[in-house]
Amino acid sequence: MINSADAHSAAEPILITGAAGFIGFHLSQYLLRQGVRVVGFDNLNDYYDVRLKHARLEKLYEYENFIFIKGDLADDEDVGALFAECSPGIVVNLAAQAGVRYSITNPKAYIDSNIVGFFNILEACRHSFDPGKTPVAHLLYASSSSVYGNQRKTPFSTEDDVSKPISLYAATKKSNELMAHAYSHLYGIPTTGLRFFTVYGPYGRPDMACYSFTEKILAGDTIKIFNNGDMYRDFTYVDDIVRGISNMLYVPPIPDQSGVRSKVYNIGNNKPVKLTRFIEQLELSLEEVYNRAFNVKKEYLPMQAGDVYQTYADVDDLIADFNFKPETSIADGLLSFAKWYKDYHI
Ligand SMILES: NC(=O)c1ccc[n+]([C@@H]2O[C@H](COP(=O)([O-])OP(=O)(O)OC[C@H]3O[C@@H](n4cnc5c(N)ncnc54)[C@H](O)[C@@H]3O)[C@@H](O)[C@H]2O)c1
Repeated sequence: MINSADAHSAAEPILITGAAGFIGFHLSQYLLRQGVRVVGFDNLNDYYDVRLKHARLEKLYEYENFIFIKGDLADDEDVGALFAECSPGIVVNLAAQAGVRYSITNPKAYIDSNIVGFFNILEACRHSFDPGKTPVAHLLYASSSSVYGNQRKTPFSTEDDVSKPISLYAATKKSNELMAHAYSHLYGIPTTGLRFFTVYGPYGRPDMACYSFTEKILAGDTIKIFNNGDMYRDFTYVDDIVRGISNMLYVPPIPDQSGVRSKVYNIGNNKPVKLTRFIEQLELSLEEVYNRAFNVKKEYLPMQAGDVYQTYADVDDLIADFNFKPETSIADGLLSFAKWYKDYHI
């Protein structure tokens, strides 16, 4: 069994996969500002406009303590070379094929990046304990609130049964949690899974509601509102996600009753917002930033396949273990997003 709690040295860099992505970018920037050495890894795929990924990387290149390596998580040689080159002390695996709806039409991308890719990360972490190598002290990885499927019981607790995913995306994320547990059990690698809840903020993903509604509202196009707006999401501002992760980086889980160092946390706002209220607040933020009124065209539609009715994070474990919970209000978060959106699109 690896005693990895002692293995980390501050001199070793933190590897962040998906560093050109939305959350990876923000986490990298936060750590770089503190002087932490960050190695970013990403394949810069074109799931959404690659210019946004390059724009994020440009911001990260401003820091001398940042290195970027382009590669594919699904390619074991790329991942092997990455670990050989940077010898990370801590790994944060955020690279994945994200999005519930896309998984219905492009399932293979999820198996490649989320299953094979995550397996490659686990294997690289395992082999980091080979003689002469730098052992990984903590592997943190992105899971998702989507693992809760159509659960009606709220708030969603990590103790709840999540054996009935309703999208392949959710199934890959739950699989990651199981794989991580097995590797923690077998090889002693401390792992922490992070179930994120609908993250939004500056540099956010164009395929998500915040960005895509904004784009349409500004263009005068119709926004599609599923389940007639009767949906709830525990929208979480990206800075809260970053603070949550950074609190956990140097605190790998303690062994459970079986001696396994593997934990899963929800990171969500703990305050679900109805979709219609979210849109109203977004309109207000855009009006304030653009200093004009918008005549928003709305089309109300039934529920889409794979979508869930509500998400609501129980964050008691976060509070108990890290004295932390997300705090940003939807009004403050959307205003920051709207300001960024305007600056970015000038
Ligand atoms: N944003 C959210 O609301 C949310 C919610 C729940 C879970 N998550 C999870 O959090 C993580 C980060 O999400 P995000 O919103 O920043 O998504 P994102 O798509 O902006 O970032 C993911 C990054 O990973 C990269 N990537 C994808 N496949 C890769 C591969 N095979 N090899 C190398 N790089 C690859 C992409 O190019 C992208 O830059 C993902 O695992 C996602 O599933 C996000």
